[in-house]
Amino acid sequence: MSNNLLAGKVGIISGALDEKSIAWKVALKAHAEGARFVLTNAPLAMRMGEINKLAEQCEALIIPADATSMEDLEKLFSGAQEHLGGKLDFVLHSIGMSTNIRKGKHYGELNYEWFQKTLDVSALSFHKMLAVAEKLDAMNEWGSVVALSYIAAQRVFPDYTDMSQAKAVLESIARNYGYRFGKLKKVRVNTISQSPTKTTAGTGVGGFDAFYDYADKMSPLGNAPAEACADYCISLFSDLTRYVTMQNLLHDGGFSSTGISEDIVETMTKLHS
Ligand SMILES: NC(=O)c1ccc[n+]([C@@H]2O[C@H](COP(=O)([O-])OP(=O)(O)OC[C@H]3O[C@@H](n4cnc5c(N)ncnc54)[C@H](O)[C@@H]3O)[C@@H](O)[C@H]2O)c1
Repeated sequence: MSNNLLAGKVGIISGALDEKSIAWKVALKAHAEGARFVLTNAPLAMRMGEINKLAEQCEALIIPADATSMEDLEKLFSGAQEHLGGKLDFVLHSIGMSTNIRKGKHYGELNYEWFQKTLDVSALSFHKMLAVAEKLDAMNEWGSVVALSYIAAQRVFPDYTDMSQAKAVLESIARNYGYRFGKLKKVRVNTISQSPTKTTAGTGVGGFDAFYDYADKMSPLGNAPAEACADYCISLFSDLTRYVTMQNLLHDGGFSSTGISEDIVETMTKLHS
């Protein structure tokens, strides 16, 4: 169902790798809500070719960019403005990668070069996007920038290793740049802290199936699906949330406020009987 919430709005959506990606769903919904946008991803991810299908469906241009490269980001933001015919109303940062997680390194044996790469790709890239948008004066007043986070920024999930620090930095950047961009251009900046979701990045984390099920059982509404996360992104890009900024918004079915649930009690009781 479309409500034309983004009619006339233009933006950039990063991170759509395949149909499971949260950004993929955001793109489909943004298109249905009347937005025009540019899709972007790392040149390496592009070679998998999947994104072309999405671009066709959404009538979107693709501009490849490594989100750690200021040069690539400048080309992305200026190319997007040129293609879309003016300044931007929304930007989605949906980017995360940890080689330490991919290689199964535990927290005590992290490779520090990879750790720095994790921070650069998954957190500093958000600052870089915002800094490029500011430098090129690429955002319209009352524009909205959203990045995706995870509750491991506040609580310990042992297998999430260095991504926990990346998410803490990401959320801090949303607050600090949100202040700056609010003052400068009335642009709002937020992070959405999403439930575990079955995507390439998500399922790469060790023990994913167990903590997916655990979070599902702990959340009174169950885990929030990727489609619902996309709906939340659309609401934040829309004019209905103009005064929401500098927030980390929990989109987790109630997980973060729940101490224990009957489901978990039942599971534990069975173990003890
Ligand atoms: N899946 C989950 O359980 C979950 C939960 C909370 C938050 N998130 C966050 O949601 C965001 C999107 O992840 P997803 O779950 O849709 O998985 P995904 O694997 O589909 O998306 C991650 C994207 O990051 C892109 N990327 C990696 N390095 C890049 C670089 N250098 N430059 C540009 N792009 C790069 C990848 O190509 C990919 O498209 C991430 O920030 C992730 O941490 C995911």
